Amino acid sequence: MLRSHNCGELNIKDIDKKVVLCGWVQKSRDLGGMTFIDLRDRYGITQLVFNMNTDAELCKKARKIGREYVIKAKGIVVERSNKNKNMPTGEIEIIVNDLEILNESKVPPFTIEDNTDGGEALRMKYRYLDLRRNVNKNNLVLRHKMAMEIRNYLNAADFLEIETPFLIKSTPEGARDFVVPSRMNTGKFYALPQSPQTFKQLLMIAGLDRYYQIVRCFRDEDLRADRQPEFTQIDCEMSFVEQEDILNIFEGLAKHLFKTIKNIDADTFPRITFADAMKYYGSDKPDIRFDMKFVELNDVMQGKGFKVFDDAEIVVGICAENCGSYSRKQLDKLTDFVKKPQVGAKGLVYIKCNDDGTFKSSVDKFYSQEDLKIVAEKTNAKPGDLVLILSGETEHTRKALCELRLEMGNRLGLRDPEKFAPLWVTDFPLFEWSEDKQRFLAKHHPFTAPKPEDLDLLEKDKKNVRSNAYDLVINGNEIGGGSIRIHDKNLQKRMFRALGFTEEQAQQQFGFLMNAFEYGAPPHGGIAFGFDRWCAVLSGSESIRDFIAFPKNNSGRDIMIDSPSSISDEQLDELNLKNIEKE
Ligand code: AMO
Repeated sequence: MLRSHNCGELNIKDIDKKVVLCGWVQKSRDLGGMTFIDLRDRYGITQLVFNMNTDAELCKKARKIGREYVIKAKGIVVERSNKNKNMPTGEIEIIVNDLEILNESKVPPFTIEDNTDGGEALRMKYRYLDLRRNVNKNNLVLRHKMAMEIRNYLNAADFLEIETPFLIKSTPEGARDFVVPSRMNTGKFYALPQSPQTFKQLLMIAGLDRYYQIVRCFRDEDLRADRQPEFTQIDCEMSFVEQEDILNIFEGLAKHLFKTIKNIDADTFPRITFADAMKYYGSDKPDIRFDMKFVELNDVMQGKGFKVFDDAEIVVGICAENCGSYSRKQLDKLTDFVKKPQVGAKGLVYIKCNDDGTFKSSVDKFYSQEDLKIVAEKTNAKPGDLVLILSGETEHTRKALCELRLEMGNRLGLRDPEKFAPLWVTDFPLFEWSEDKQRFLAKHHPFTAPKPEDLDLLEKDKKNVRSNAYDLVINGNEIGGGSIRIHDKNLQKRMFRALGFTEEQAQQQFGFLMNAFEYGAPPHGGIAFGFDRWCAVLSGSESIRDFIAFPKNNSGRDIMIDSPSSISDEQLDELNLKNIEKE
């Protein structure tokens, strides 16, 4: 080893030790006859001291060293006169007696500090420098620790970690595939997996019983803060289980992570059906760190001459505690918020609950104090509170109110990133209507089992078929999703038919799975978690990018390596892609 210690471990107990440290120069300061260098490595920072009076040559050498130079310093640990209690090494410093420059560095394009002066694009271009910053380094340390704890938990529960191929054929999971041309099979393409879904089912048919994999998945979809084109799943599957078994085992995994990563003893996770999640929160991933549940008000608010409400399918409100004193300006701002195209409401009705027990609403013309009192009772509003009401088509209105609820949660400081509110959302619909395609698609994927009691509806009432599918949601983020699978070939055929596949199309795309079902498929089910998302949520962060060593930017590009990029004529030729236009 070039070094005897790292830059984060020496303290007052090491006084008088002879040490050798290696690292990067964080900063250096010349003060009179002394030069100080903060030496940084993965573990921390240690202060080096050079004294002009005792070793002028060495001190001059130190003064020439720039930021981010890589150096090796030999010296003796001494107690600092000017202690820094905020750093683990803050009580000591190293009096250096030998210094070697291991490598020089250009001046970095941004400061390698917690609060850097570098913009996002610049930091992504020099990601290796950005990763030297504590925030990013700590995120990768956390990710490593989580991966380790996930493996510990699943290994102890008899799961086998098994790899599945990356060069596959497309599995329809809703997103577009990334494809890879095959040189040896002219005109044919592999697809990169959107998830190992069909392979893990085949592993169950193979009798491997409990599988997991921390695995890269690829989806060519529009990017958001919580989406990357390549991301990592903790993918799991089990045989001879029912939904309840899966929820229990993986609630155990989530609790294990809460305990080992955050030292939190989590209570049993609440469960809510998809239908109730939509009714009470307007979302299938409700943030239940705060209450503010929806209350439907059709019975009180309709039939009183207010046409907007009378014509609406739903009139629904929330109670914002202690907001009854909102000014005209604040209410106008909220109205502007709900009218934004992303929220999409036409207007906002409010009722202020005055301290004297009276009410003031934006629609006083139509409603008596008695009507408003009933609304207050229904929404549990007390004097000093504010009731906010939207109306219109049900799904649309619930979505808009969901946005308003989250906005009020933010304004009232109810979405504390250090607080965690996990829950299971169950009983998802099996199908989802696609306006684009004008047909029903699988809400989760085509291998999800319908609830046995809804089987009869498969052909006649698709909208109302529920499935044994579930999501794990934490703080309003979908962390994972899974289902009990179909393991019967006839039911799988029926499902493909219901999705509009002809027998031939089903055979062509999924023949391998249907054939496998002919050889004794066990009842099975599973789940996959978004690993990057889980890391981000446990750190109270919105963006998964910060938890990926080398992420893509918003346009799906890696600007550091300049990818995607053109390929040479030779390569195009070899792949028989010559007719594809080059830039
Ligand atoms: P699903 O498509 O719900 O299920 O994906 C599982 C979880 O993966 C995460 N995720 C993503 N994370 C980052 N970027 C993305 N583009 C992205 N897409 C999804 C989410 C999500 O909950 N095969 C099924 C699972 C199963 O049925 O077992 C599947 O892939 O956190």
